[in-house]
Amino acid sequence: MYYPDEIVEEVRMKNDIVDVISGYVKIQKKGSSYFGLCPFHNEKSPSFSVSRQRQMFYCFGCGAGGNVFTFVMEYENYTFTEAIKHLAERAGVTLPEAEYSKEVRQKESKRTKLLEINKEAAKYFYFQLRANQGKGGLSYLKKRNLSDETIHKFGLGFANMTSNDLVKYLKSKGYEDKLIQESGLASFDEKYGLHDKFWNRVMFPISDVNHRVIGFGGRVMGDAKPKYLNSPETMVFDKSRNLYGLNFARTSRKSHVILCEGYMDVIAMHQAGFTEAVASLGTAFTEGQASLLKRYVQEVILAYDSDEAGTKAALRAIGILKEAGLTGKVLSLEPYKDPDEFISNLGAEAFEERIRQAENSFFFEIRVLQREFDLKDPESKTKFYREIAKKLCGFSEDLERDNYIQAVAEKYQIGYKELKKLVLSYAAQTGLATPAERPKSGIQKKMTPEENKKKAQRLLLTWLTEEPALYPKIKKYISPEDFTEDLYKKVAERLFDDLDKGNYNPAAIISLFTDEEEQREVAGVFNTKLREINTRSEEEKAFHDIVLAVKRNSYEYYSANLGADVSALNQVIAGKKALEELSKTHISLD
Ligand code: GTP
Ligand code: MN
Repeated sequence: MYYPDEIVEEVRMKNDIVDVISGYVKIQKKGSSYFGLCPFHNEKSPSFSVSRQRQMFYCFGCGAGGNVFTFVMEYENYTFTEAIKHLAERAGVTLPEAEYSKEVRQKESKRTKLLEINKEAAKYFYFQLRANQGKGGLSYLKKRNLSDETIHKFGLGFANMTSNDLVKYLKSKGYEDKLIQESGLASFDEKYGLHDKFWNRVMFPISDVNHRVIGFGGRVMGDAKPKYLNSPETMVFDKSRNLYGLNFARTSRKSHVILCEGYMDVIAMHQAGFTEAVASLGTAFTEGQASLLKRYVQEVILAYDSDEAGTKAALRAIGILKEAGLTGKVLSLEPYKDPDEFISNLGAEAFEERIRQAENSFFFEIRVLQREFDLKDPESKTKFYREIAKKLCGFSEDLERDNYIQAVAEKYQIGYKELKKLVLSYAAQTGLATPAERPKSGIQKKMTPEENKKKAQRLLLTWLTEEPALYPKIKKYISPEDFTEDLYKKVAERLFDDLDKGNYNPAAIISLFTDEEEQREVAGVFNTKLREINTRSEEEKAFHDIVLAVKRNSYEYYSANLGADVSALNQVIAGKKALEELSKTHISLD
């Protein structure tokens, strides 16, 4: 469904964001904004702000943000279209018959259809599990201690012995072969034609945070291989940006999540009351999953298998968590293999106790490291201490590092002074002791060039939305085409146009995007805190650097992608000229 911009804007304007959000969250006026506890992550002091003037909300804790549509989408798990319908009704706006833009319609409708197919398949499997032919599946799940309630909550199902009954069913619902194949639920070959991917397996539907089924995992009921079969990645199933169980865990209102490896582990934990458990999707934990988790919690407790492979995976995950700015802890499952087995044997209370005892990830790393050394041999022991010292250099903040030196010294009975000396000597060698100075522009050095380019574009947009008066000063040098990131380009087109007309309206710009993720990113542009800069001249320098970085990137981008296109050539020539001029020009901020 696609509504014209004017209607979207009318619905938005007739639903004051403060009124709408007040219906869901307790907010209080403080200065020009309203504040309350964020409904999208767990917190004790309010960092969730709503601005009547700007008609936007933003959480300084988890980065959730957007306009009134975004809020309703996130809170009610609505799609953009559903949010429009809901708010139109609330404000008494009659929506016209849907109008379509071809491109949007095609993209939206394919996604929608794939989601529909997944939902149909989930319903089909669910039904099979309860039918005569699903008896084996049901008794398998029961044997694994799952209650009816749990089986229902996770929508578990069963794929039959026959090799094409799901395909037949989906075809009877009117879906084309090509789409069925693209959903990953069936594959095609010359010999068998279009046939089911899953058969004779218990089925675990995988949902996104909005409870939409995006893929499946299927388990054999015995010892056959492969034990689990998963849907391939599709247009709606991105394994690196979703987590099994997060649709439930995100509302568990705990300050941590428990991250484990298996679907069965998640289900067993939820059944035992640990509704904060999630798992990766048959693949290793990724950065994308870490940043997804960061929206909801600060701390991640790892409950990986207690074998060698699980330990290795935990070490990897710790690195990724650290990189994302999350605190990691490691839960010990000894003497059992995984959370499911632990809970089956020792019960929920014992598991709760293990959560309380979860080990700081740094100590875990050191303990694993220790296995490689023989502490009875002085030489090996010395090597071990050196390795510890090297690892301690990883803490860039003095106080934190010192706290760890103290704790490690005590735990491993090393002299505190000696260890500290060792750490400092390594730190001096590698230059880690002094924290790297942050460049004034807020563009950090350790980011990849690609990230830096993206960040410069975002900072420029942020700056312009905070100080629209600067727009006329850079207009001569920067146009929307200079934003090489699609999302930013779209924002810039509208923002520059609004600024030209003198009616700059951030909340309306957000509605240009129908995807929650994109809306959040755009809201971020309007809410990023610019760096702390003391003097006006430093600030001018920073602004100049950013404008220059954006222009340089654009120039490089167009030069690199220059084909036989004459207008692109003109763009490059003009870009070069602007770049030269810009490097010599002083842009005053006053
Ligand atoms: P149960 O044996 O049913 O208790 O499963 P588990 O969750 O304990 O399984 P395991 O620790 O062996 O695997 C953890 C996760 O890895 C599973 O949930 C799957 O997502 C994935 N996985 C396991 N085996 C396979 C396999 O053979 N193929 C693929 N693609 N993924 C697998
Ligand atoms: Mn298991």
